[in-house]
Amino acid sequence: MVILGIETSCDETSVAVVKNGREILSNIILSQDALHRRFGGVVPEIACRAHLESITGIIDGALGDAKVKLGEIDAVAVVNTPGLIGALLIGVTAAKTLCVALNVPLIAVNHLHAHIYANSLEIDKIDYPTISLVVSGGHTTIFLSESETKHIPLGATIDDAAGEAFDKVSKILGLGYPGGPVIDRIAKRGNPEAVMFPRSYLEKDSLDFSFSGLKTAVLYHCRGQDLKTPGLRKLLEREVADVAASFQEAVIDVLVDKLILASRMYNVRGIQLGGGVAANSRLRFKLEDKSKEIGIPLYCPSLRLCTDNAAMVAGLAYKMYLEGNVSDLDVEAVT
Ligand code: KG4
Ligand code: ZN
Repeated sequence: MVILGIETSCDETSVAVVKNGREILSNIILSQDALHRRFGGVVPEIACRAHLESITGIIDGALGDAKVKLGEIDAVAVVNTPGLIGALLIGVTAAKTLCVALNVPLIAVNHLHAHIYANSLEIDKIDYPTISLVVSGGHTTIFLSESETKHIPLGATIDDAAGEAFDKVSKILGLGYPGGPVIDRIAKRGNPEAVMFPRSYLEKDSLDFSFSGLKTAVLYHCRGQDLKTPGLRKLLEREVADVAASFQEAVIDVLVDKLILASRMYNVRGIQLGGGVAANSRLRFKLEDKSKEIGIPLYCPSLRLCTDNAAMVAGLAYKMYLEGNVSDLDVEAVT
């Protein structure tokens, strides 16, 4: 079964063609980073317009790369939630249009569940249940996953997402957007113990997260405590690397500790990571270490499948289709 998947929930326009939920025939990802960079974050109206301008060309490109004709598509999958409403609408409208024109089923996919499925695109067999963490620019959510399609949320951020904290701290340090990859790189040259930034665990055994206090602590550290002084004091290159490494360590300590706590609480058979921040090299290293310690396998998608892409959408849609989970054509985009 050949499924065409569409992903436009945030600032990547992506279309993929995937066979039987596993074989990626094509996966085109057009990043809008260059459009949003000068604003230091995603501007919803710009994202929406850029999706609109590029979606038809990318659909053509994905079919061409896959060497598949429109008439050979058996179903169309699209992310309809969560995301920026205007951005989601472009993908949902394109998907519905294709379904009407081709007379094929529509499968509406949850973006967070698709991030978890990125692991199944590459790994033959994952033993369930797992604890799954989707950690991205918009979300930091822990799930108890009972299968590839069944995910029960256990906790989430109560303020900033982890990726959002990376992006904001990068802005404070003058490192540009998106912040995650550049902090990951620069932190390698810094000392993660240079500054003891706060780690917020919330109440005992909580699986929720909070990163806004950490972001503020970084801001105060960089400005000096004297908030009357305008602007940021100029940090030396060495200091920037130390702050980046110390901030990154604070985020990762909390993510790792809560994942291990959740794995013990629910007695699971694996831990799955997904989302842009899952590409972080220090997170992968520390979690690999901890999961070995407790004897639970860790699954992380390869770097290109961590960030937003449509292959994970078309892949998950295949499993949903097998379970009879197809959508009506009046399915809505939900923010
Ligand atoms: O999943 P994604 O592509 O989009 C959302 O659904 O939000 O994630 C994007 C986020 C951005 O905040 C970016 O800074 C972060 O993932 N990111 C990283 C790394 N690569 C991307 N964060 C930390 N370390 C990285 N290597
Ligand atoms: Zn995402």
